[in-house]
Amino acid sequence: MLDTRSRWKVVVFSFEILCAFIRNYFVRKKGEAMMQRFLCVLAVVLTCSFIGCTTKNTVTEETKPAVKEAAQLEFPKDYKNWTHATSKIILDKTSPLYGFQQVFVNDTGLEAYKNGGGYPDGSIILLGFYEPILEGDDIAQGDIIWYAVMKKDSTAERTGGWIFDGFDGKTFTSTVSDPIGGCYNCHMAKKNREYVFTEFAGEVNPPDEASLESEPNDFAFPVDFRSWQHSNFKVILDKESPLYGFQQIYVNDIGFQANKTSGTYPDGSQVIVGFYEPVKEDGVISQGDIIWYAAMKKDSTAAEAGGWIFDGFDSESLQSKIDDPVAGCYMCHTSMKDNDYIFSKYVP
Ligand code: HEC
Ligand code: HEC
Repeated sequence: MLDTRSRWKVVVFSFEILCAFIRNYFVRKKGEAMMQRFLCVLAVVLTCSFIGCTTKNTVTEETKPAVKEAAQLEFPKDYKNWTHATSKIILDKTSPLYGFQQVFVNDTGLEAYKNGGGYPDGSIILLGFYEPILEGDDIAQGDIIWYAVMKKDSTAERTGGWIFDGFDGKTFTSTVSDPIGGCYNCHMAKKNREYVFTEFAGEVNPPDEASLESEPNDFAFPVDFRSWQHSNFKVILDKESPLYGFQQIYVNDIGFQANKTSGTYPDGSQVIVGFYEPVKEDGVISQGDIIWYAAMKKDSTAAEAGGWIFDGFDSESLQSKIDDPVAGCYMCHTSMKDNDYIFSKYVP
């Protein structure tokens, strides 16, 4: 029951009493009165220190989180390996949801997230809020500000079976002291969707997978790219730009390490950009329908385009729509030769 410090105090005092008794035994005649007074004082001190310890101990128990809902989560540092769910930008600095938002879902929760319910215990949804960098009509994803996390735990009964927590973007320490007032009460609005607001964006439904054959010097549309790792995100609002749209950039497993470190990509690496319609509403920009896809696949035999095959795909048929990838794609990417022809940088 007592903490280590209090226990030491007791040990030290007991030892002192023992010493006092021994001394008293040998010097009984001379200092009897003095010794008795000393022991008296000692007894008082010991009692006080015991009371002190007990009181202190009670306080510690009281300040402990009383409910499971206030139990803090361990920050899930591997979230960038999870599936990227959706993005949104809130430019109003006074909003509690300000920032460039990225949502990630772990494997345990993915199916339920896509279905809009049925989360098993252990499901985790993480929302990263990044600084939006405005450059004219472009908005790029800057540094992380903070993370909001929900973890399914059916014993967290007072907060709908989820543990809510927030984390500082630099120190990864918890920033939430009242998950009920600070998080859960607002999420109550989505009780019918098990307290989850966002939905999976950019799901690919291939019309006929068999038709997605590749030709020499070409590659088939990678229908599974939504399970690849998310690299970066950018919005270009200038409709005249060839890169117009709400861009989501994904990398496959083979290329992920090179993408993280800006290294040289091994053969088989693939990078894809989905260009989605930016939906603007009162300082909020969200991801709309797909416009088209641009993709690159590393193949060191593709000598005429820096060891990459470039291709663009139609949003519906998922068929190639690029006749001259060297002039239409590669020429512009040559300015990034020193970075293996890749423009964008992985955002942690
Ligand atoms: C003012 C209402 C409000 C408060 C307060 C709030 N949230 Fe949210 N939360 C939202 C909305 C709305 C979204 C969807 C993203 C968006 O529209 O900006 C969201 C999204 C999320 C997501 C992604 C999953 C989902 O529901 O879509 C997580 C995780 C999350 N919030 C956790 C938290 C945590 C943890 C706290 C407390 C620190 C918190 N939220 C406080 C409204 C709120
Ligand atoms: C006008 C120059 C230009 C042209 C033309 C162009 N791109 Fe890009 N591409 C970019 C820039 C710049 C980015 C970085 C994202 C951004 O800033 O929008 C990019 C990003 C990409 C990416 C993500 C990896 C990376 O480099 O960041 C892929 C994949 C890609 N482009 C493929 C293509 C394909 C395929 C074509 C031809 C259909 C093409 N690009 C044409 C400039 C260009």
